Amino acid sequence: MSVETSKPVPRAGILDIAAYVPGKEHAPGVARVYKLSSNETPLGASPKAIAAYRAAADNLERYPDGQAVELREAIASVHGLNPANILCGNGSDELLGLLCHVYLAPGDEAIITEHGFLVYKIQIMGAGATVVTVKEKEATVDVDAIIAAVTEKTKMVFIANPGNPTGTYVPVSEIRRLHAALPKNVVLVLDAAYAEYVRRNDYESGIEIVSSNPNVVMTRTFSKVYGLAALRVGWMYAPADIVDALNRVRGPFNMNMAAISAGAAAIRDQSFMQEAVAFNQMWIDKLTGAFEAIGLKVTPSVTNFVLIHFPDVDGKRADEADEFLTSRGYILRAVKGYGFKNSLRMSVGPEEANRGVIEALGEFMTRQNPGQNK
Ligand SMILES: Cc1ncc(COP(=O)(O)O)c(C=O)c1O
Repeated sequence: MSVETSKPVPRAGILDIAAYVPGKEHAPGVARVYKLSSNETPLGASPKAIAAYRAAADNLERYPDGQAVELREAIASVHGLNPANILCGNGSDELLGLLCHVYLAPGDEAIITEHGFLVYKIQIMGAGATVVTVKEKEATVDVDAIIAAVTEKTKMVFIANPGNPTGTYVPVSEIRRLHAALPKNVVLVLDAAYAEYVRRNDYESGIEIVSSNPNVVMTRTFSKVYGLAALRVGWMYAPADIVDALNRVRGPFNMNMAAISAGAAAIRDQSFMQEAVAFNQMWIDKLTGAFEAIGLKVTPSVTNFVLIHFPDVDGKRADEADEFLTSRGYILRAVKGYGFKNSLRMSVGPEEANRGVIEALGEFMTRQNPGQNK
């Protein structure tokens, strides 16, 4: 019999969770603000996706298709997959949560990496399981550290590949080596939210490894290159047994109608996606070069953001740069919560914002009187 309490009490561990803090949006008192803190695309969504979204407004009284068939078929056709192995979610965040809900219980361990995406930790703790955090090497996932942390209690391993907020990636050979070393009952989650941006021959998002193994899943999102963050569209490619298990507990209509039809239209418009990738690559190269030229260190990025490291010198630290940039309307992401105490993450923005940050950081690095920001 449970003890009666004076008010409802959450399950053990829930109140130990630090809620996710999204990227800042506002710069008080600044007229023109550029939000470069959430890795959103500066190019918006495909006009075809926007038209599909508008058309959805004509049928708002109807429940959406609980199987999201149109979207799953569109994804399957673009990526050459079987739609039966695809499950869509209200953002990939929902899928990460469902995976933890289904495969973790109190007493189980799940491995994440030092700079891994914060949602993993939240969802593992939410399932009552134990988070095991391993070190990365030079802001890159260290496969050997993960293998060394596996115990008989390990049930899941989460890797963002590429990583956020690092922007680095793990080559496919390393992912295969990790998978080979994991017990067969461990679910390896490859979170490939930024896969579309990667232009490296030794990278693979996870499709091949999922196709040939019963214990690997890949999650993807429409929030980044497809520009549908507001609609919350994510998907998972997984073995049939895993899809079946998650289907049993998800909300019956977890994908809304606008998300299904706009998502399908967005992924069919591959030329829009390719243009976004080309724009991004140009700016990743330019931003990296420009920041290095003014004496800042930048972790090499294969994504749509860069991690900028500041000198440990009064007046030149990340906190001060953040304040300086915010006062000029450029909102970057502080990444202390991800283990980077003196760094900022900047998403590639529209051209005028990218140029503006380059200019502002140039001024910041050369200014003589750090007491005066404005
Ligand atoms: C590594 C990583 N995974 C997952 C997500 C969540 O994506 P979604 O918007 O689909 O929930 C993000 C978003 O920032 C991310 O950076």
